[in-house]
Amino acid sequence: MNNPRFQSFFDHHYHIVENVRDRSNFWRLSDSIVAELLKQHLYPHCKTDTFILDIGGGTGRWALKICNDTGATLTVLDSSSELLEITDTYAKKAGLEHQVKTVVSDMTNMAMIQDATYDHVICLYGPLSYCQDIGRAAQEMYRVLKDGGRLVVMGHGHYNALYSKINNHHASIAELSRLKNEMKVVWNEDLPELHTFSCRSLESQLTAADFAILRTFGIPTLVKPGKEDTSMAYDHSSHISNYLDNKDVFETLFNLEMEVNGSGNLANNGVNIMCIAQKVQPDSKLGNILGN
Ligand SMILES: C[S@@+](CC[C@H](N)C(=O)[O-])C[C@H]1O[C@@H](n2cnc3c(N)ncnc32)[C@H](O)[C@@H]1O
Repeated sequence: MNNPRFQSFFDHHYHIVENVRDRSNFWRLSDSIVAELLKQHLYPHCKTDTFILDIGGGTGRWALKICNDTGATLTVLDSSSELLEITDTYAKKAGLEHQVKTVVSDMTNMAMIQDATYDHVICLYGPLSYCQDIGRAAQEMYRVLKDGGRLVVMGHGHYNALYSKINNHHASIAELSRLKNEMKVVWNEDLPELHTFSCRSLESQLTAADFAILRTFGIPTLVKPGKEDTSMAYDHSSHISNYLDNKDVFETLFNLEMEVNGSGNLANNGVNIMCIAQKVQPDSKLGNILGN
């Protein structure tokens, strides 16, 4: 990783982040939406001989789930060797050490991976927002994918960041204009600036690397986190997490989100933006344009 401040954040605070995630109903909702979208858009293309690369996979929570759900084999790639040690421990505990492997690397230079090695690539929640060279990361994702392979990638939502900086933080005009013009946000003093994405900017980064865009979603779009859901000290739950504690409310909001999260303008509201893209040969792209 090219920014040591990021790495020390992940190495030292990841267990706290996971603790907040485990206890917050807001993040439980967000994870349920991600899981459902994977089920709809990735799982139908997975078999027991499928190889998936999980970039910025941290402690391997998605890799272990996908392996359990589909029988696919996963490589978890991360710049943090500490987090990957945790992945190895979890994989062993689950008896999946032969199907979930780890590799330390920066996503902008995955030189140890040969071209066209993986059937699919995922990069869930923040890795792309922490990345210093998004264009290069997108090219690397394209390079390691096989033709026809799917990419499921997420980044922090730009309009949600603006909404939160205006309504929750009453940010300075200078901070708002930097966020609006350069799409960079600073959430707290532990973290350097992070890159935010609109649907269109995420799609543009991927098309510039030759990907074809299949679908783009906001996750979630209508439900917004309380400040407790994004703070390191989760000493009490947020109003929204209390509301979501009711199982019927949770189910209703989950269904509502799944109904609207792929619709143009609303997707742009997402706390995170998810893009599903595909590596297609330039010839077949031309074929699509010509209607073949
Ligand atoms: C917010 S966590 C997301 C972890 C996981 N995908 C999840 O959803 O739980 C971001 C992860 O990206 C990793 N990361 C950040 N920048 C990276 C880079 N340039 N190359 C590889 N991994 C990176 C961090 O070490 C961290 O594990």
